Amino acid sequence: NNLKTHFNKQFLVGSAINAQQAKQTQTDTDALIIAQFNSITPENEMKWERIHPKPEVYDFTLGDEYVDYGQANNMFTIGHTLVWHSQTPDWVFEDAQGKPLSREALLARMKEHIHTVVGRYKGKIKGWDIVNEALNEDGSLRDSKWREIIGDDYIEKAFTYAHAADPKAELYYNDYNMYKPEKSAGAARLIKSLQSKGIPVHGVGLQGHYSLTHPDLRELDEALNLFASLGIKSMITELDVSVLPFPNEAEQGADINQDLALQKTLNPYPDGLPEDKQVALSKRYKDIFTVLISHQASLSRVTFWGVNDANSWRNNWPMQGRTDYPLLFDRENKPKLAYQVLMDL
Ligand code: G3I
Repeated sequence: NNLKTHFNKQFLVGSAINAQQAKQTQTDTDALIIAQFNSITPENEMKWERIHPKPEVYDFTLGDEYVDYGQANNMFTIGHTLVWHSQTPDWVFEDAQGKPLSREALLARMKEHIHTVVGRYKGKIKGWDIVNEALNEDGSLRDSKWREIIGDDYIEKAFTYAHAADPKAELYYNDYNMYKPEKSAGAARLIKSLQSKGIPVHGVGLQGHYSLTHPDLRELDEALNLFASLGIKSMITELDVSVLPFPNEAEQGADINQDLALQKTLNPYPDGLPEDKQVALSKRYKDIFTVLISHQASLSRVTFWGVNDANSWRNNWPMQGRTDYPLLFDRENKPKLAYQVLMDL
């Protein structure tokens, strides 16, 4: 009775794990990860700021522990992420005097980073999120230091360098809100353009930070059809389903601990999720998985963004200190109703 066996014929089932879990200091959680999942993604430990904090300094301590954990437990081990506008130190884009790098110098730096990181885990990391979140919501390319300095071809360069560093690794483009028709169309344009130039791209990651109301699952279905038509794999790379109301901009700036009314609306279940919401969450997961299973021919993996509700980034986004219930396992690592419902599919 576990997720990886239950969905064995459909897709891999993965989880993002953190450094403490890779160190095996969370005994119960580790037992759960090993029992339930056959793929892992490093939640933060391979981001540029962590693994390459200074120009001449790489820190592979946590990356090595993570990869060893995947190897020891025979898991399809994912690398996340090489080129992103976020969690990348400012020095990456500057010379020693603090002046913006030239295109050639930034390409050289990107190449060196990718060769070093991908090369270190060659044959061990099976799939890499090469470029993360390069698109705007309308499907156009996002402005970033990468794009500003190198130009639009920074994306194809990243894929090319990664392929040279480990020709057998699968290379993915990963982004959020990929169910939105304009954004998925933009991703499809990007992938087709890579394909037309012979640049290796093996899959597209749809992050999957969802809620009880978003996305419209017909849109998700259509996006998965579109990506399948490109002849590449799709994967849900960061699945979670928030049960909390999404605060507006003014509310996000407020301190909910100082405002009781706001606390009640924005953090309504500090002592546990009421039964009706537990049911709503399980129904939502069932509906999502029904769509995903119908795409099993092209969908290779479904990865949850975290193991249990206690560890989820959702408790701190878009504002700090809330109590969310987005995953299949509760704060004591017990399977929730949503887990049972998926196991009945
Ligand atoms: O570990 C430090 C801690 O030492 C320090 O005291 C504390 C103070 O801020 O920060 C801690 O690091 C935080 C880290 O999460 C671990 O909790 C960082 O500030 C915080 O920025 C970081 O957030 C992560 C976020 O990406 C930014 O990298 C989230 O955990 C992680 O879940 C989230 O994951 C992203 C994916 O990579 C890409 N897609 C969206 C997804 C959700 O935002």
